[in-house]
Amino acid sequence: MAQRDRAHDGTHIPEVHLNLNVRGLGMSATLAINERSAQLRREGRRVFKLGLGQSPFPVPRCVVEELRNHAHEKDYLPVRGQRELRDAVADYHRDTKSLECTGPDVLVGPGSKELMFILQLVYYGDLVIPTPSWVSYAPQARIIGRPIRWVPARAVNAWRIMPEDLDLICRADPGRPRILVLNYPSNPTGTTYSAEELEALAEVARRYRVVLLSDEIYGELNHQGAHVSIARYYPEGTIISGGLSKWCGAGGWRLGTFAFPRQLRWLLEAMAVVASETFTSTSAPIQFAAVRAYQGGTEIQEYLWQSRRILSALGRHCHRRLVESGLGVPEPQGGFYLFPDFGPLRDRLRERGIDTGADLCNRLLADTGVALLPGADFGRPLEELTARLAYVDFDGARALAGAEHVESRLELGTDFLRAYCGNVLDALDALQAWLRES
Ligand SMILES: Cc1ncc(COP(=O)(O)O)c(C=O)c1O
Repeated sequence: MAQRDRAHDGTHIPEVHLNLNVRGLGMSATLAINERSAQLRREGRRVFKLGLGQSPFPVPRCVVEELRNHAHEKDYLPVRGQRELRDAVADYHRDTKSLECTGPDVLVGPGSKELMFILQLVYYGDLVIPTPSWVSYAPQARIIGRPIRWVPARAVNAWRIMPEDLDLICRADPGRPRILVLNYPSNPTGTTYSAEELEALAEVARRYRVVLLSDEIYGELNHQGAHVSIARYYPEGTIISGGLSKWCGAGGWRLGTFAFPRQLRWLLEAMAVVASETFTSTSAPIQFAAVRAYQGGTEIQEYLWQSRRILSALGRHCHRRLVESGLGVPEPQGGFYLFPDFGPLRDRLRERGIDTGADLCNRLLADTGVALLPGADFGRPLEELTARLAYVDFDGARALAGAEHVESRLELGTDFLRAYCGNVLDALDALQAWLRES
């Protein structure tokens, strides 16, 4: 019997305890693709990592420095987060979004994902999410046992949800408690909402008193630096979710923040109760470093400006190449994802035995080494030929250094992208060649 089947005292652990299923949830396709990618790499094959959604950029130097300076901080901090950080996050929201927000309105946690889970735990409501949307919202609801309502999004609307579709869901049972999660710029689509579109959605949310969780974790990575929060239009019902993972390149540091309106302070308090019995408080040195990140300043502004500049140029390049190949894909507006639809090539792909998004991603990985994630992971129908492409397989530190040498009034062209984001461009070459073969 394998060692892992035995407890430390030698007793046999039944297989059911070793199974990776949790409340009927299997291993995600994300993990499966990652495992297959790792296998191919072990076999010496070149793999293009366009599956995993991690920032390619390093944490800004001044923030790392601050972490180093506080490595000795060892005490538990307050469960809601340390005061300086809560103040810094509130100041940040006030300055960048002109919102009324003070330190006591902010809750700090070990990643926004954990905070989302706790929010769903303390608020007894349906989870309303767009399809497609980020991989973890629905599994969290399933673990807790909350009903999920999917709001349809369509390719013709660049995968944005429409107010009338939200209204249709809410109208069926107007008084029902609900949490709507809206994420923009979006993972997986890379698109965002205009101020007018946000205003129209906010109106529906207000009409039905929906708790709106506005997942703005990619807000700072709006390619034009023009992010607008829906909290501007529905301040009393919107919780803004953010953190260091994406704009600050610090996913592994695990720091997320929620900013609540005064009217929802009771929810913050309910979450703090659960937090005190689960994660206790967020890592102390990370919180000290996060203060520096939220205070901003020239170095961080420059870092963000160059990050957006690179992502914008690379996103547009990838978009153009995908369109050239006959795929349907909206232009990227923020973050580092694209959500191409291979549907227009369905007949040709069917001849190669490809009928679903998972078939597509498996075959693409096996034939070319390009790793994408199927749209079904994000709530799309299994047979739809959509996939998420994360254009992050490059050395962000090197690209930032390179971009500093290109005059700021100039766009970063293909030569720059070949030199600094070569893997992503090679992946597109491989993808295009593979599609031509079909
Ligand atoms: C849309 C979205 N929301 C939330 C998260 C969670 O971020 P974290 O828990 O690192 O704050 C992610 C991470 O991939 C994400 O893509």
